[in-house]
Amino acid sequence: MTAAFLLDDALRVSVELGERSYNVWVGPGVRHRLAEVVPPGASRVAVVTQAAVADAGITVDPGVEHRVFITDDGEHIKTMGAAEQLCREFAQWGLTRRDAVVAVGGGAVTDLAGFTAAVYHRGIRMVYVATTLLGQIDASVGGKTGVNLPEGKNLVGAFWQPSAVLCDTEALDTLPPEEMRSGLGEMAKYHFIADADLHSLALPERIARCVAIKAEVVAADERESGRRAVLNYGHTLAHALEAHGGYNLRHGEAVAIGLVYAAELARRAGRIDASRVSEHRRVVGGYGLPTSLPAGADTDSLVELFSRDKKAVDGVTFMLDGPNGIQPATGLAPALLRESMEAIR
Ligand code: GLY
Repeated sequence: MTAAFLLDDALRVSVELGERSYNVWVGPGVRHRLAEVVPPGASRVAVVTQAAVADAGITVDPGVEHRVFITDDGEHIKTMGAAEQLCREFAQWGLTRRDAVVAVGGGAVTDLAGFTAAVYHRGIRMVYVATTLLGQIDASVGGKTGVNLPEGKNLVGAFWQPSAVLCDTEALDTLPPEEMRSGLGEMAKYHFIADADLHSLALPERIARCVAIKAEVVAADERESGRRAVLNYGHTLAHALEAHGGYNLRHGEAVAIGLVYAAELARRAGRIDASRVSEHRRVVGGYGLPTSLPAGADTDSLVELFSRDKKAVDGVTFMLDGPNGIQPATGLAPALLRESMEAIR
């Protein structure tokens, strides 16, 4: 019996990557179907989860022998040391190349566990059970895994596609509002990548639609040699705000401000008109997210940080909206960057 048959009451999105293709299942309670998507032949499963998820009673049963490894909550868990520790514990237990890792939690856990699975025995199979909105519509789909260095975020990682992803919408009920806001910023982004009217959809359908938009982009450009950069829309200012620190913004809030900034910049660069800028403000504001800079934000420091963004390949590259959709733009005059910053103050 195939997984597709067993899970047919959930929404399914296929990520088409040839022999590495996989399904993303979306719906309330889909984590309870984990046993149906555990990779065939795995006799042991290392379940890597985080304290908040375990405390909220979100547990899984892979249907085979398993051990649970619990990390702290938060981005700080993404270290080389934590990956090494997990590898050592897997080895001491006797996890083999035929076995699998299941990550249950938000983006930090899936990034760390995914990276660990990518390097343990040179790569073992991996399933994600995404429990946050950000994890469901972004981090768990597309195969990016990684950990941070003191020198920067996600500087060490691997592309390692999972065998399946379960996006359990029931788990979202346990999320604190600020964690939900973090996902909403990424959701707002998808409105512009696909020109999609997501507002008309109920939450599980909306999540599935976001996943489908991302799946299409990843299928076209798995290793980010071109089109996949569109997923960084709104992220140049967001990364600068995050790197600057001290603004007390969740990732999604920083992306929200970054989307409005990108629209203001695109208008000044002659790529879109004022009504499209208003559309950005309407969508972002409609999610209850900020559309302007936090008080005290310093233009000079933020513009300076643009050039340190790790996506800056050839000078400062912005992903900007335009007549042919969102595309990279380089060589923007510093005056435009500053004027656009003032427009969102
Ligand atoms: N989060 C952006 C990407 O997966 O490419």
